[in-house]
Amino acid sequence: MAAECPATAHEFRRWRLDIGLALRSRPWLCSLIILACLAGIVLVLPSSFTASVVDRDGADADNSEEGTASAAAAAWTQPMERRPWPAGDFETRDLLENVYKDLDGFQLRKDDAERSSAKGTFHATYGEFTTGGVNTLMEVLNITHDDVFCDLGSGTGKVVMQVYLARRPLEAVGVELSETRHEKAVEAQGRLWKSTLLPAGAPDSWRGALRYVHGDIMDVDAEIAKCSKIFFCSTVWPKPMLDKMQQKFLNFQFTRSQVLLVSSRELKEFGELLEPRRVAGARFVRHAKVDTSWGASFITLYALKDFENASDSKKGRR
Ligand SMILES: C[S@@+](CC[C@H](N)C(=O)[O-])C[C@H]1O[C@@H](n2cnc3c(N)ncnc32)[C@H](O)[C@@H]1O
Repeated sequence: MAAECPATAHEFRRWRLDIGLALRSRPWLCSLIILACLAGIVLVLPSSFTASVVDRDGADADNSEEGTASAAAAAWTQPMERRPWPAGDFETRDLLENVYKDLDGFQLRKDDAERSSAKGTFHATYGEFTTGGVNTLMEVLNITHDDVFCDLGSGTGKVVMQVYLARRPLEAVGVELSETRHEKAVEAQGRLWKSTLLPAGAPDSWRGALRYVHGDIMDVDAEIAKCSKIFFCSTVWPKPMLDKMQQKFLNFQFTRSQVLLVSSRELKEFGELLEPRRVAGARFVRHAKVDTSWGASFITLYALKDFENASDSKKGRR
């Protein structure tokens, strides 16, 4: 029987009749088709269900290795030759895409999600700044070679790596609570060294200027004290924890004489558009719009250790 596309209703009826006859004379063919359909249902349904669970909750339903840095490491292929340090936006984005292939912060081990949640500032749902969003962040903070840039809540470390590649600061440091996300940042860092040459003239030791720290930002004062430009990823922080962190920033013994801080959530204690200064030592500077994986969002820039005209402070709380 030739299985041609039936062009008319008549041909279609004949075609159906032929199939019916073929199946009736070969009952084993019928069983084979039924078995194949059942196998398809068994294989396809559970995998699509797992994917939706992961997407919604951001956490794996079990402690499987799926989605961990070691699983992704196996998928990444090291290039034959290391490529030069990226020049410009396009090359930086391309390099980041390559280095972060199959590495994201969405899937977490269950034990990690539970441990991190206990800190009160963590959500299993995850989001990232896009490379365009990080460009805005770098402009707003005016990051230069003299800066120590710190991302407090750095996820898989992509923002930190982009700043390191594009602005070549003294140091670029990411602090992350989740062990799974921190491991992915370290895996991406390893890929960077395997795939990319350092910029001309940079000593090998400069690799040490890109660092990822696993910990709670509430507990890493020695790291924060060295930062001159800070990105505080505070979007899901509850108000009481945010207040605690604001007090911490105000009382910090930073080593630099001026520190700029961008927060993804407003820190109104430091001042806002219509009343830029509310406390001595901190000042609202401006808002900016950024692109993130969850859509357009706003960041706010504050100047810390800012005591000039501090007597203007209406409330003078310090
Ligand atoms: C929205 S993600 C941002 C990732 C990255 N900074 C970016 O913008 O692309 C916020 C990260 O902060 C982390 N986080 C939450 N509470 C934290 C804490 N107390 N200490 C360190 N990291 C924390 C979360 O695990 C999450 O990975």
